[in-house]
Amino acid sequence: MKLWAGRFQKETDTLVNDFNSSITFDARLYREDIAGSIAHAAMLGKQGIIEPHEAEKIIEGLQAILADVEAGQVEFSLDNEDIHMNIEAELTSRIGDTGKRLHTARSRNDQVAVDFRLYVKKEISKIIGMVLNLEGVLVKKAEETLDAVMPGYTHLQRAQPTTLAHYMMAYANMLRRDVTRLEDCLERMDECPLGAGALATSTYPVDRFQTAQALGFRKPTENSLDSVSDRDFALEFLSACSILMMHLSRFSEELILWCSWEFKFVELDDAYSTGSSIMPQKKNPDVAELVRGKTGRVYGSLITLLTVMKGLPLAYNKDMQEDKEPVFDAIDTVEMCLPVFTAMLDTLTVRRDNMRRAASGGFINATDCADYLVKKGLPFREAYMIVGRLVHMCLRTGETLDTLPLKDFRSVSALFDADVYQALELKTCVGGRKVYGGPAPDAVQAQIDHIKDFLKER
Ligand code: ARG
Repeated sequence: MKLWAGRFQKETDTLVNDFNSSITFDARLYREDIAGSIAHAAMLGKQGIIEPHEAEKIIEGLQAILADVEAGQVEFSLDNEDIHMNIEAELTSRIGDTGKRLHTARSRNDQVAVDFRLYVKKEISKIIGMVLNLEGVLVKKAEETLDAVMPGYTHLQRAQPTTLAHYMMAYANMLRRDVTRLEDCLERMDECPLGAGALATSTYPVDRFQTAQALGFRKPTENSLDSVSDRDFALEFLSACSILMMHLSRFSEELILWCSWEFKFVELDDAYSTGSSIMPQKKNPDVAELVRGKTGRVYGSLITLLTVMKGLPLAYNKDMQEDKEPVFDAIDTVEMCLPVFTAMLDTLTVRRDNMRRAASGGFINATDCADYLVKKGLPFREAYMIVGRLVHMCLRTGETLDTLPLKDFRSVSALFDADVYQALELKTCVGGRKVYGGPAPDAVQAQIDHIKDFLKER
């Protein structure tokens, strides 16, 4: 018999029963649901809304249920619709009528809101920890590659020289923003909706500060109507996850390129790559490709929930039951991607010689050549034009700026002297870029130190 059988003359159609039910996916909120109920029962007892001995009995019953669920000894049923009603039904079947007092001054609307927030809060902390581990690997890789010169690209065309360490710290900075975005979102969601009831609180002397504190929230939410209608916290979380995944996806794309034969800047460890079922020579970067692919899935979750929410009047609408699957899927995806990506990065081998070779062709020192002339007094635009002519000359003869004879340099400008070759050396070009944020080893070391401080603060 349904809870609401008093009002109804017919049984729920079985199709509706299954359609309406969310227990198949919200069962994973059992810990949060039980914690929320324990806090609620304790508050009801303390406020004299139920008898203290009843509160005690309820709490003991809930603790026993928790232990049994953990041990796989509780079976949830579709007939009880969701995790909230399953736990309540289980409680009542165990402790009898006292169990029926638990739902005093509460609705499933504030119940689901508090459960879901508790769950997302817990998972955000876990994800932050995983991103920090990845940061640690980036720092390690950067410290090993401060002098590993490679080409930097724009438009995927060789542009200016940089180092792998500089590259690693670029991603470390993106991930630092991801961490602080997740932290901000955690702080904003740290308000407890319990006690909001269905939408308008209740007439009992409920102490929302007590339950908020018991559940580890900073404070209760300010407005009960908002409390049960709001899913911003989940949307912000999905946005932060989407941006994080976008960063991992770009990084994956680079790694996929870099381990192609055309680049061969890095080689993935055998344990973190896969072979082909037909082509014996293949070693594929499947991990990076899957991270890139799964990014689309996390974006999908964000768009799903934004779309679910966009037309809903206040307060709760059943549409909102559709909030959980995309969030759970995003959590599972992000928590699967981060450790495997981190391990893949940690174990990859850097092919410094190939990076340097790529940096030596393609005129990535052309800007430095123009700067050489500027330092001898020429306005930049004129110097730029002259070097353009030199590049054109090299392309015709198959030279590079490093091998071009001095007489050819001098044929376009008398300002060139033999010291031009030193100015064009990769070491000079990288080492000279000491500007704050730049690729010179000291400048990158400062970036590493900042990330290390950030990690230490956490
Ligand atoms: N299973 C529901 C959900 O996930 C719980 C809230 C139900 N509230 C209601 N008024 N039907 O959203």
